Amino acid sequence: MQQAKIIADKDYRIGNVERTMFGVLIEHLGRHIYTGMYEPGHPTADADGFRQDVIDLVKPLNLGLVRYPGGNFVSGYKWEDTIGPKENRPTRLELAWGTIETNQFGLHEFVAWCRKIGAEPYLAVNLGTRGPEEARNLVEYCNHPGGTYWSDLRRKNGAEEPFNIKYWGLGNEMGGSWQIGMKTADEYARIALEAAKVMKWTDPTIHIIADGFSDMTWRWKALQSCYHLADYLSIHCYLGNRNGDNAEFMGAADSLTDMMESTAAVCDAVQADKRQKRRMNIALDEWNVWYHENESTCPDPKWVPARHMIEDVYTMEDALVVGDQLISILNHADRVKIACMAQLVNVIGTIMTEPNGRCWTQTTYHPFLLTSNLAKGTVLKTLVTSPAYDSDHRKGINMLSTAMTYDDATRQLTIFAVNRSLKEPLEVSMELRAFGGTPSLTGWKSLFNNDLKAVNTADKPNNVAPVELTDFTVKDGKAVFTLPKASWNAISIQLN
Ligand code: AHR
Repeated sequence: MQQAKIIADKDYRIGNVERTMFGVLIEHLGRHIYTGMYEPGHPTADADGFRQDVIDLVKPLNLGLVRYPGGNFVSGYKWEDTIGPKENRPTRLELAWGTIETNQFGLHEFVAWCRKIGAEPYLAVNLGTRGPEEARNLVEYCNHPGGTYWSDLRRKNGAEEPFNIKYWGLGNEMGGSWQIGMKTADEYARIALEAAKVMKWTDPTIHIIADGFSDMTWRWKALQSCYHLADYLSIHCYLGNRNGDNAEFMGAADSLTDMMESTAAVCDAVQADKRQKRRMNIALDEWNVWYHENESTCPDPKWVPARHMIEDVYTMEDALVVGDQLISILNHADRVKIACMAQLVNVIGTIMTEPNGRCWTQTTYHPFLLTSNLAKGTVLKTLVTSPAYDSDHRKGINMLSTAMTYDDATRQLTIFAVNRSLKEPLEVSMELRAFGGTPSLTGWKSLFNNDLKAVNTADKPNNVAPVELTDFTVKDGKAVFTLPKASWNAISIQLN
């Protein structure tokens, strides 16, 4: 059997696990909002029209942050359309995704939904068709206590207290040709600076996320312009098994690692160049697996409200890669303080719904749920010795991918690990001596399936779900366990 080794020490730390690392993007796209989260006629709908069956699946994810309203949608977003009595809100053509937007779910509904699930709202502003003026008005509407036009309008619309939204994004993927009001890097650098300035002047306590889309020149220019005002630089990463090479796909999360590290490098270069004291954090505010569906496979014609779009059905192997992306994110906890899985419901969603019907969780739900709930305290540095393999496009893919968290308060250690081998189990040994005490296994959830293409459906929602493993031994301060082939694992150990 192939063997791998992990060395870790509770004093070798990468960074704290932050709740904002377990965020999601929810966008006005396809059936994400309408018939996904919001469906007033649904049998489980609450007084606000939110689907309670969906909330019941979302809550266990323990989300720290919800980014809204897009995505590409934000570049045509007219937030003023989305407030006030619902019957007065205009219906408009929505150009980013070719649909009809009724604005029945708007700003107040977004904040109410976040409060219901206990997550922080993160609002992006439109720098496509709009600019600093509308952005600062939005900050004033949301966060100013009262006594001004916009803050009093919020109060009139039923929210006496300010929303106090902390996280604010400056546009979305502004360099993309598909973006409404696309910008060159220089144009973006200017408008982002001016927007950030007036937004922070309106509320100096907010955290600003600058758009780092998409290459190093863009990131360099954006940061040259806004380093002193931005708290995070945003990047996006979607992975997919496009050429059907399963072995290569198993190592796909390594390219997310490369992206985070090269982004950190450009942040550090600008920091040095501008002689700034503060390090720039990274907001990986869109990440996921996405390749099964795209706009061209959308079954419904344009201008149909809540049309079916990009409803990827995730397989077992997709869940492994999602779990591996989470491992990669944890291992960059020193820089990546925000991470949002994109998206949550129906649209590349981890939760699926039928209009007026059932809802269920996809394969990818499980690694997210377990990582979000078990990763606590600090991420430790792991030194890994692992057998490796090559694919056509990448050399030296480690079979073992792992991250480890340690909670000082409870002395709980959790190992997240993927055995990327499609062929054989992997025996892992780990030195625990440095932690002291007597280690004992408190739980080992393992996600694997003989069929890498297995999926969950409304009829078989638990077709792919984790199982409990127990074969974990400790001898002379060394733990030994065997990861099934092509598996994602969360192993919790109590140190007494
Ligand atoms: O998440 C789907 C889309 O992917 C988002 O709208 C956009 O930001 C990205 O290209």
